[in-house]
Amino acid sequence: MTIKIISTAPIEGQKPGTSGLRKKVAIFREPHYLENFVQSIFNSLDGIEGTTLVIGGDGRFHNEAAIQTIIKMAAAAGFGRLLVGQGGLLSTPAASAVIRKHYAFGGIILSASHNPGGVDGDFGIKYNVSNGGPAPESVTSKIYENTKTIREYRIADLPDVDLDQRGSFNLAGCSLHLIDPVEDYAELMQSLFNFDKISSLFSSGFRLRFDAMHAVTGPYAKRVFEQILEAPTGTVINGDPQPDFGGHHPDPNPVHCAELVQALITTPLSSDIPDMAAASDGDGDRNLIIGRDLVVSPSDSLAILAANAHLAPGYKDGLAGVARSMPTSQAVDKVAEKLGIPCYETPTGWKFFGNLLDASKATLCGEESAGTGSNHVREKDGLWAVLLWLNILAERQQSVTDIVKSHWTAFGRHFYSRHDYEAVEAAAANDVMQHLRTELPALPGTRAGQLPIERADDFSYRDPIDGSVSANQGIRIYYENGARSVFRLSGTGTEGATLRVYLESYEPDPTKHDQDLQQALAAVIDAADAVSQLKKKIGRAEPSVVS
Ligand code: G1P
Ligand code: ZN
Repeated sequence: MTIKIISTAPIEGQKPGTSGLRKKVAIFREPHYLENFVQSIFNSLDGIEGTTLVIGGDGRFHNEAAIQTIIKMAAAAGFGRLLVGQGGLLSTPAASAVIRKHYAFGGIILSASHNPGGVDGDFGIKYNVSNGGPAPESVTSKIYENTKTIREYRIADLPDVDLDQRGSFNLAGCSLHLIDPVEDYAELMQSLFNFDKISSLFSSGFRLRFDAMHAVTGPYAKRVFEQILEAPTGTVINGDPQPDFGGHHPDPNPVHCAELVQALITTPLSSDIPDMAAASDGDGDRNLIIGRDLVVSPSDSLAILAANAHLAPGYKDGLAGVARSMPTSQAVDKVAEKLGIPCYETPTGWKFFGNLLDASKATLCGEESAGTGSNHVREKDGLWAVLLWLNILAERQQSVTDIVKSHWTAFGRHFYSRHDYEAVEAAAANDVMQHLRTELPALPGTRAGQLPIERADDFSYRDPIDGSVSANQGIRIYYENGARSVFRLSGTGTEGATLRVYLESYEPDPTKHDQDLQQALAAVIDAADAVSQLKKKIGRAEPSVVS
């Protein structure tokens, strides 16, 4: 193999602690930018000679060009076997499954998740380790250090590969396998869920509408729902992956899926109303679940899945524990309490679940940002969540809405909403956080708006497995009536700062469960603004996005 050694200069790479490098496509197209980052990854790994690397992405603009480069660099770095999704595709959870199943050394996933794609959109790259999960901070900080000092990269002098074919090829000593991106994943799903039962649900007339948002889950959803489970053709909409996601924002929330939500509103009466709708994001790790007249909040979804997981074969022996990110509502805590299992509260970001899953301390985990998953892979998993819901529906023979409402009756309802202030001037956003941090010690015992404050802190997490501490993970304010507000700065925004305010109140009384969400939260919304002075400090009257 002829290897070219190219001189280069340091770049601004992924910040340690973030789960990947995400930038505008234009930056990734700058000469040597991607190469510098990929070489920085390889330079931070020991013992890659002869091992297996998995490569795939969500199909967004620049996916194929990036993969061509990565194949040549991986061959030059000494990997012995490359498993690449046909067409350059692998959803994030499928990449995790492939890494685990084939005992790969690691994997490179090309995606900017739910961020818009296309030539003016975002691109991203991240490295996952051999357990199938995002690289831990010990690795990402090495990568970061390498990006600051890199002087050269190595690339094999090989022609481009036709990624649309399937099969095995020899790249001068390194074997390249273009694999079916769906097969291993579909097999894993069949080992977890009762496909016969779900298939009977479909044949009895149950109708699902799954919106793949022109992103990576199209081929997965078509194979699993329409081919294996024999749901009617047309169950999957927007099922062809496009480089710009059809010009849409591939983020499965009620704002970007407004049409899907609208389709499940039952008045005026129409005969064309699906029983359930669902969507996933750019790279297939997030999920949105919609029942008739009801969007299931991701926090509720996690709690409901935890309470019913034993109905699916893969979880029939029960759960070792559950984990949720700190801002996620406390609904799952109530379920854990009833099941007598531990509930871990971790900082925002999927990577914090990895150690708990590896150590079998948690079986299910989730985040308020539409991420739910289990120990079957080390990423959150959109289609998995839809399948677990379907398995539960098939067993309980109830509607999504009935299951949610009966869950609230049994456990009480956690009203929950996130208010995002996007593209805020960084200084103003930092000022809000700084103000809160300074005020913290004096808050307990005082009143914010109508609500007495019980306790307040800046969340700090000590990993129960490796003892590492992650401090300053967000301000939590608990009020006396069980309500809570949380303030944190987004780590994934690409323009200015994004300030997230998470609002939660608890209502045990079932006669009050049908209130309007924002009205039910009105007192805690007021309190959050009163205590943070946020609107004044950032000069905004309303949040940019309410979810
Ligand atoms: C957001 C979500 C977080 C998720 C992350 C990656 O991060 O809030 O739950 O893990 O995207 O998908 P944030 O922008 O809030 O830092
Ligand atoms: Zn994603």
